[in-house]
Amino acid sequence: GIGDMLYDSQIFDKSGNNKQDIDEAKSYLEKLDAFDYKFKVGDYFFNKWHFRSLITHYVTLANKGQMKISFKDLLTLLAGKKLESYADKITEYFTMMTGQDFLPNSPTMMNAGGRLGQLSACFVLGMEDGMEEIMKSTSDAALIFKSGGGVGINYSNLREEGDIVASTSGVASGPVSFMNIINTVTEVVKQGGKRRGANMGIIEAWHPDVEKFITNKTEAGVLENFNVSVGIWEDFWHALVNTTDGNYVLRSPRDRKPVKEINAHQLIDLIALSAWKSAEPGLIFFDQINKYNVFAKARQAPLRATNPCGEQSLYPYESCNLGSINLVNLAKRQADGSYEFDWQGYEEIIRKTTRFLDNIIDVNNYPVPEISTASKESRRIGLGVMGVADLLYRLKIPYNSQEGYELQSKLSEALTYYSMEESVALARSRGEFPLCAKTEYPEGKIPISGYYEKSKESHSYEWEPLIEEIKKHGIRNVLTTTVAPTGTLSMIADCSNGMEPAFALVFEKRVTVGRFFYTNKILEEALKEEGLYTDEILEKIADNYGSLKGLDEIPQWMQDVFVTAMDIHWADHLMAQGVWQDWIGNAIAKTINMPYDVTVEDVKSAYLLAHEIGLKGMTVYRDGSRHKQVLHMTSEN
Ligand code: CDP
Repeated sequence: GIGDMLYDSQIFDKSGNNKQDIDEAKSYLEKLDAFDYKFKVGDYFFNKWHFRSLITHYVTLANKGQMKISFKDLLTLLAGKKLESYADKITEYFTMMTGQDFLPNSPTMMNAGGRLGQLSACFVLGMEDGMEEIMKSTSDAALIFKSGGGVGINYSNLREEGDIVASTSGVASGPVSFMNIINTVTEVVKQGGKRRGANMGIIEAWHPDVEKFITNKTEAGVLENFNVSVGIWEDFWHALVNTTDGNYVLRSPRDRKPVKEINAHQLIDLIALSAWKSAEPGLIFFDQINKYNVFAKARQAPLRATNPCGEQSLYPYESCNLGSINLVNLAKRQADGSYEFDWQGYEEIIRKTTRFLDNIIDVNNYPVPEISTASKESRRIGLGVMGVADLLYRLKIPYNSQEGYELQSKLSEALTYYSMEESVALARSRGEFPLCAKTEYPEGKIPISGYYEKSKESHSYEWEPLIEEIKKHGIRNVLTTTVAPTGTLSMIADCSNGMEPAFALVFEKRVTVGRFFYTNKILEEALKEEGLYTDEILEKIADNYGSLKGLDEIPQWMQDVFVTAMDIHWADHLMAQGVWQDWIGNAIAKTINMPYDVTVEDVKSAYLLAHEIGLKGMTVYRDGSRHKQVLHMTSEN
């Protein structure tokens, strides 16, 4: 194809080329051959192999004396602007990734340049109440799993178990059974893929099968490829908080007629008990998700589903590609040996990576055409962070202190502010997202709760001028920020997960050749500086559940600063999620860790507090409550 392009472009003559042009073309080959990449030139998509073929053709023809223009001019002709700048961009992005400063989500890392070319982690599919629709969603889900994506589905439109099926005069098997189909598909498809696709299964609190759904996963081996969450709307909170009897009506998904009446307190107690036992279900607060959902006007519907780990709410057939900035790398060492956060560097990397993620939308190969259409209509991206806990360790600020929360709040606000500003700049050069004019953006509304709910004095940035710019020029991405779990990314970048405190600062690994300790790298440095770094101390920390608390050898300042997920009270976990959520456009992947001895009442209190502080969802993990615990902190565990 490239060869044809060259011939078609009528740039040949017999006048010959000089050696310099040929050398220049070859130098591009060297420069660009080290990376996998894909970019758009005019109407064509170029990847590494196309580009290689273009250069090879050029060199062959030039050697025969058949090229009349220099290689650079050829690129300019094809691209309409100097391709040289692309080479610089590629180097810039490549350095950002190899320097562990920023990583796109694992599907981008695994599939870019490959045959699948599917680059997004997050998808949501619809699930309508008909056999054909159910099977279409199942087949769409299979294609998404194949490419390494995860799918969220709200099953609330499916009629309840035992309801009538008119065409066969039979009875419906209910949403929980249909979840098993997708669970099996996930299991089967994973064999051929690089990672097991994850699912989010949602049922809203008013659905007649809600109780069965809540207790369904308390036994091992059931729906293992699913995270499950109950979706909550205002009416449920109203029954729970504002009525004395707590009466709450479950309704038929077909006609919304009442099916039975339950007690809202009993339902939340059941959810809390189940989460206490087995860490599921989670809760999704759809009232909070839709409170500032400026996109609802364009879609004429509220958001009703999230991706598997809950950080992205999406409409059916929407996808989102994520990427995370490693914040610990922005702590810069000062002359006196202390560290300071580089706010200027943060702004720069936010701008560059917002652009990076926007580019991904166009070079992405979507698994089904509907997903391509919906994703390009909203151009949703999910720029987030990782290494938050490591940054705080490095700056010697306790995660769960006033200073810690203030810093996290500013980090969150800056992330969204600069990425939205960059998205407006992109709208000016590339155009706003196609449905922008139909949303509430032109009316001056923004999907950021902190802007409305936090006092103006506590804002770190001037939002009004940005809102004016959006009204004038639109914005290129419906939402720009999210905080992902960064399960794989944080391992590649060797930093703490997302905005979570470290789970364990030291843990022991036993392998065939012996045992060794994995130590958080910032702690390792601090122990060395304090002259405390020995195998004995590492063993003691590992045996202390990876925590420094109560170890006599460890100075108090280190015990205060190096806190683990289990050292932090659950209410402080909620606070931290809250300060991030104030400014993040989408949501936060976070686990509210609780010790083994909390009560079901504590879990219930956590739900109420979570809703009160404006979280969009919540997941509890009580120590030891999962059937399979992924990470064992000490040799005894
Ligand atoms: O670090 P990485 O890019 O691999 O992903 P993550 O931040 O841990 O997870 C981001 C999203 O990827 C999740 O919310 C899921 O939607 C999806 N995911 C999945 O489908 N399957 C997995 N095994 C892990 C993540």
